[in-house]
Amino acid sequence: MKRGTILILIALVFLGVAVAMAASVLHDGVSARAKPTRLETFVARNARHLAIPRNARLSQNPVLDSPEIQHEARLHFADHCAICHGNDGNGDTPIGNGLYPKPPDLRKRETQDLSDGELFWIIENGVRFTGMPAFSSNGDHMAGNHGSAQDSWKLVHFIRHLPHLTAVERLEMERYNPKGLEDRAEEQEEDEFLNEATPKAKSESQSHRRK
Ligand code: HEC
Repeated sequence: MKRGTILILIALVFLGVAVAMAASVLHDGVSARAKPTRLETFVARNARHLAIPRNARLSQNPVLDSPEIQHEARLHFADHCAICHGNDGNGDTPIGNGLYPKPPDLRKRETQDLSDGELFWIIENGVRFTGMPAFSSNGDHMAGNHGSAQDSWKLVHFIRHLPHLTAVERLEMERYNPKGLEDRAEEQEEDEFLNEATPKAKSESQSHRRK
């Protein structure tokens, strides 16, 4: 193909994407309540795929899967990821539903077909222009105390297990979901009550309440 033809083809692709984006914005504005069009999802997923370096996509999980690793990753997911993705990975959470794009159902083929390396890369680096944060522990863009690369590889094992998550596992996860301040205060009061708080602790919490 001549160089001129290639340039025209590239220009046409860019024009097509620009028209699709303009049409999407004109249709839904910039509200996050909308759902991406199929074309937008297609372009975004392919752009993401191309943006992930080939050797990263091909890298193998260095962590051996085991019940202990699954347990650790499950609680980690409950603590760091479930707020958007849900304990079972379906993405149907109040925060997930308010995002554009919404988190996909991690149990479905679209996600399960990604390579281990690609899942790892997404967890470590996040996805720009989406709500998916980077969890890498290198640099200062760490989303909460996530931990090491090993933890991300463990999460990859857990994502593979998501389609087979049991009800017992899900119930256990619920205990590790981050709690709001109100829940926490209530839990603390219950704990104090159950532990028959020492008189000192009691009077402290009472004086605190009076303020
Ligand atoms: C603040 C919300 C939020 C949190 C917290 C979050 N994610 Fe995500 N995640 C998203 C969104 C939104 C997407 C969709 C990104 C896209 O469309 O490319 C996503 C995408 C992903 C994907 C790619 C799935 C696919 O098929 O495209 C994986 C894997 C993933 N998240 C894993 C995790 C893990 C593991 C954690 C916790 C360590 C986590 N996420 C925490 C919002 C979140």
